[in-house]
Amino acid sequence: MERTKILVTGGAGYIGSHAVVELYNAGFQPVLVDNFSNSSEKVLSGIEQILGTKVPFHNIDCNDAEAMRAVFAEEGSLRGVIHFAAFKAVGESTQKPLEYYQNNVGSLLTLLQIMREFGVEALVFSSSCTVYGIPDALPVTEQTPTKKANSPYGATKQMCEDILRDVAAAPNNTLRTILLRYFNPIGAHPSAKIGELPLGVPQNLIPYVTQTAAGIREQLTIHGNTYDTPDGTNIRDYVHVVDLAKAHVVAVQRLLEAQGEAVETFNVGTGRGNSVLEVVQAFERASGQKLNYTIGPPRPGDVPAIYADVTKATEELGFQTTSTLEEALASAWKWQLSLGGEVKK
Ligand code: UD1
Repeated sequence: MERTKILVTGGAGYIGSHAVVELYNAGFQPVLVDNFSNSSEKVLSGIEQILGTKVPFHNIDCNDAEAMRAVFAEEGSLRGVIHFAAFKAVGESTQKPLEYYQNNVGSLLTLLQIMREFGVEALVFSSSCTVYGIPDALPVTEQTPTKKANSPYGATKQMCEDILRDVAAAPNNTLRTILLRYFNPIGAHPSAKIGELPLGVPQNLIPYVTQTAAGIREQLTIHGNTYDTPDGTNIRDYVHVVDLAKAHVVAVQRLLEAQGEAVETFNVGTGRGNSVLEVVQAFERASGQKLNYTIGPPRPGDVPAIYADVTKATEELGFQTTSTLEEALASAWKWQLSLGGEVKK
């Protein structure tokens, strides 16, 4: 039987590559689009090694309407799209706001236009818990009001969500959309053939932790320990990237079966909050490595604490987390070791 084709923009990225593997394992034919702006060709060979087959790949920018149109025409029978492709560094977005709005909002508009031209009616969109800003109460549910974003990056996610809700509300709309609000994805595929590949100095916690343990970085700086949290460090909801990837497969299935409303929103996290210090300790247990860290000042724009209520995703998507924090961190460490960094004892 022919596999149902799903276009995956940003398919060579961190979450995208794991979703490609899970889509294929679930019987879909992922078709990748990526321009390697924050990834590498190595990811494609990692995917191939895991699946034992190549997946169709197009090296193009999602903002390039003509090139995207050509992909839709060439592939012929795309049934849905997962739109991962975006810039995602909070700090950088304050330095380059125009680039963030152009790339993140512009590419969605281009994509929606072309999907309409080709009659492709199912879309999974990568949103983020950043849309909640600093929440008044925890955990956050999908009903928790969104607040003004702390960064241009966050604003692009809010704008994209607004665009998709407006499209869904228009008369004669045929597009079905699922907005997945990711909490903090961590870890790597158990094979250690794919994982997070930050370019340059990592901005996110886990790659900084694993690179420090591997001796690539001198020391982790914990950004502040005087927050109003039990140990004073920030609290986040760290979800294993493979669990997160699987949520996309279920979302695609739900869209293709035309269940639910025209636009639906789901938190995807574990429902657990862990502090930065707890992450450091869990990493030390998972890896057997002592981590060199120091406490620095708070990072501008950081939300003190956020974690998800995942009841809706559990009940309606059948979403489940299968990994503990330690297991996720162990997979991140295995991935780091596979990259060949020196291990500092
Ligand atoms: C942020 C965004 C999220 C986005 C993600 C992608 C918000 C609220 N969240 O997540 O939407 O998808 O970036 O990049 O805007 N930390 C340290 N030392 C470090 C690095 C991080 O202590 O060297 C701490 C941070 O202060 C934070 C936690 O680790 O408390 C997680 O940080 P990070 O991995 O950067 O993710 P978020 O900022 O939570």
